[in-house]
Amino acid sequence: MAFLSWRDQYRVGVTDIDQEHRYLFGLINEFHDKHRGGADDKALEQILNRLVQYSEEHFRHEEETMLASEYPLHAEHCALHEALFMTLFRLSEELAAGSLRIDRDTHRFLRAWLVQHILKHDLAFSDYLAQRAKATPAIDHNTAAASAEE
Ligand SMILES: [Fe+2]
Repeated sequence: MAFLSWRDQYRVGVTDIDQEHRYLFGLINEFHDKHRGGADDKALEQILNRLVQYSEEHFRHEEETMLASEYPLHAEHCALHEALFMTLFRLSEELAAGSLRIDRDTHRFLRAWLVQHILKHDLAFSDYLAQRAKATPAIDHNTAAASAEE
């Protein structure tokens, strides 16, 4: 069983964002499995660096999506991303400097880092999108065109 398993309850409902979250799950699992398999710090550093880089890209993309859908908590969410990114970045710096001892707590931290953010904050965005879709139902263009001809 994977260290971090994807669950339906983590779905935000935006295909790209869900795919990116799953990719982040994969990186955290890779980091965990390589460590358990006895990989050296250099190999772990590479995975952590990929996690840092991919998180940055993912956060940017998520923030653009929020902006495009006029999410009112956009600024607050950006601040959360910034704090998450800095924590992750510091972790990678410590690993590169040889001052990080990777243990069970490190893995648990990474798992919680992602899962808690998705459950608490990304799903709030998901709720907002659902409410917004209900409030502005898509116009049925066929019906609109037919009544214009009458
Ligand atoms: Fe987010």
